Amino acid sequence: MPPLRTLAHLSDLHLDLSPASDAAAASLVEALLKRNVDQVVVTGDLTHQGARSEFHRFRHHFAPLLDSGRLTFIPGNHDRPGDDVGRGWMDGHKVRTVEREGLFLVCVDSTGEHNRNFFNSHGELSRAVVDQVDAALSEAPHDALAAVLLHHHVLPLPEESFPERLATRMGWPHAAELALGAELVKRVAGRCDLVLHGHRHVPRERDLGSPGGRALKVYNAGSSTDLGRFRLFQHAAGRLEGTPTWCRTTRPSQPRTAAHNVIPALQYLMGQLGGARGQRPAA
Ligand SMILES: [Fe+2]
Ligand SMILES: [Fe+2]
Repeated sequence: MPPLRTLAHLSDLHLDLSPASDAAAASLVEALLKRNVDQVVVTGDLTHQGARSEFHRFRHHFAPLLDSGRLTFIPGNHDRPGDDVGRGWMDGHKVRTVEREGLFLVCVDSTGEHNRNFFNSHGELSRAVVDQVDAALSEAPHDALAAVLLHHHVLPLPEESFPERLATRMGWPHAAELALGAELVKRVAGRCDLVLHGHRHVPRERDLGSPGGRALKVYNAGSSTDLGRFRLFQHAAGRLEGTPTWCRTTRPSQPRTAAHNVIPALQYLMGQLGGARGQRPAA
């Protein structure tokens, strides 16, 4: 019998310097360690404003997983403003692979230079990057679960907040899926088991059937700190076992209020009008 392994998917932690943020991060790590998870992936927006101090908080809380090689993370749009800490996380590459026992991860940086502006929080995926993902997957061992990680959503999702509805109404790209997201899904079909992303804070899942003879599912983790829970996948011999389960932390979910999104958006707008950078809302 091949060993059963576990993969936890977290996203959109939006860690800042507040005690509430520290408590949310600590409870997630506690839950991950309690389940002795084999590998953890965090699909972007680790920090709220891309500040070095926020990233230090992340490293502090997640040190037990980082130090044991059990954590892989990629940048999201919120990791790009401020000190732009997310810029260095992929060693200058848009695509890189991470191999762990029974697991092959294709990490994709779907952020762009435009992500230093709130109203351009959408992702960027070029044809060259799609080609790189395609090429990377050809190196995946047959007995490994293959997952593509990126921050932005690959397929259309409903708007979840006032700023997203406003942006769509205005014709801005803020809430749109990756322009080449559907093409990426088509290209990885048959050689990949999972596409894992975040960006949108409400979790979603999409079963795409078995294109190319291999089951393919797309999961959005949502904001793990807001939700106080994360999905846990089980896999063996390169295939998923059953459906993922939600693991809850001991801390109740604390969804951001509308004010959390709207007020910083207004602050940002006022900052832009006044020539200064405002705070950015969650997304
Ligand atoms: Fe995001
Ligand atoms: Fe986010």
